[in-house]
Amino acid sequence: MQESIKRIIVTGGSGFLGRHLLRALTKAGYQVKNIDLRPNPEFETVIADVRDKEKMLEEIKDADLVFHLASLIEAGESVKEPQKYIDYNLDGTLNILEAMRINGIKTMAFSSSAAVYGEPVRVPIHEDDRTMPINPYGMTKLAMEALLSSYVNSHGMTGIALRYFNLYGPEEHHEPESHALPRFIKQIYNNEEVTVWGSGEHQRDYIHVGDIVDAHLKAISLAESQPGKYHYFNISTEKPASVAEIVGFIEEAMGKKANIKNFPPRPGDPLLLYADASKAREQLGWTSQVELRAGIKEMVEYFVKYWQKAA
Ligand SMILES: NC(=O)c1ccc[n+]([C@@H]2O[C@H](COP(=O)([O-])OP(=O)(O)OC[C@H]3O[C@@H](n4cnc5c(N)ncnc54)[C@H](O)[C@@H]3O)[C@@H](O)[C@H]2O)c1
Repeated sequence: MQESIKRIIVTGGSGFLGRHLLRALTKAGYQVKNIDLRPNPEFETVIADVRDKEKMLEEIKDADLVFHLASLIEAGESVKEPQKYIDYNLDGTLNILEAMRINGIKTMAFSSSAAVYGEPVRVPIHEDDRTMPINPYGMTKLAMEALLSSYVNSHGMTGIALRYFNLYGPEEHHEPESHALPRFIKQIYNNEEVTVWGSGEHQRDYIHVGDIVDAHLKAISLAESQPGKYHYFNISTEKPASVAEIVGFIEEAMGKKANIKNFPPRPGDPLLLYADASKAREQLGWTSQVELRAGIKEMVEYFVKYWQKAA
């Protein structure tokens, strides 16, 4: 049993997931510190780059656990600029792990991704299925897992990799926005064409940010009860939904029809992608709670209010 975890550092806590996570950690009584390239209007933030080794050594200290979320996240961009992804994601993670080792912080839980699997050999995907990323983004996530696992084994740390599928929810702002749900909501709101690759039959696993935050809270308990190990989990709803279904839920929540424009399916885009989450259920005590229809309604309401206020 590790001593109880009280002080938590979050990297990337000014991003979409990080903002939700910091609020939940604070509410649960943890002492938190955010490190990000940009400020978070609600939390004091150390403005720093995880690529800066010296700065990480200075800042990654006096904590019990690091939630490492900071990352570049665009698969398409990573194909054009692989070195940048290695610098931010992999070297950044190495800097943090080194600072943790030197400053005596034992536990890291980090944002891995469904992208570690590449094209699945079967669906639902199980954690020990083949991992063969199809872009440098996924490669960095897999390499980050391997790096963390090597630190667990070499330095007696605890490591937890949470492999999320398609994360969504209120406050999902990315620049550029390549994620389907916020893009569709924006296009429907602005009466623009909704661009869909294929006929809308592609199915994905959309997981609400609140469920992901909950998985992080459960990861703290796992680190306390089973320290000194490397754990890795699919964080998935196990309920894939088609593009046509999600567009239908947005239309329903917005009271408005989408003007759908179909393009040929993208090569290599699997028709069905989702994961088995029984390991997370059994070992992490986590299961997804938010129904997609309700989650999309909440997200649409957030964006409509946000744009009305901005207008
Ligand atoms: N959004 C998804 O669908 C999804 C799915 C699977 C995994 N993930 C992973 O979850 C994590 C969070 O995703 P998100 O959607 O909140 O992304 P986001 O882009 O909203 O947040 C990432 C944050 O990291 C910060 N950051 C990036 N590079 C940094 C650096 N070098 N130094 C310091 N800070 C840096 C950014 O400023 C940003 O605030 C990422 O690691 C991502 O790869 C996301």
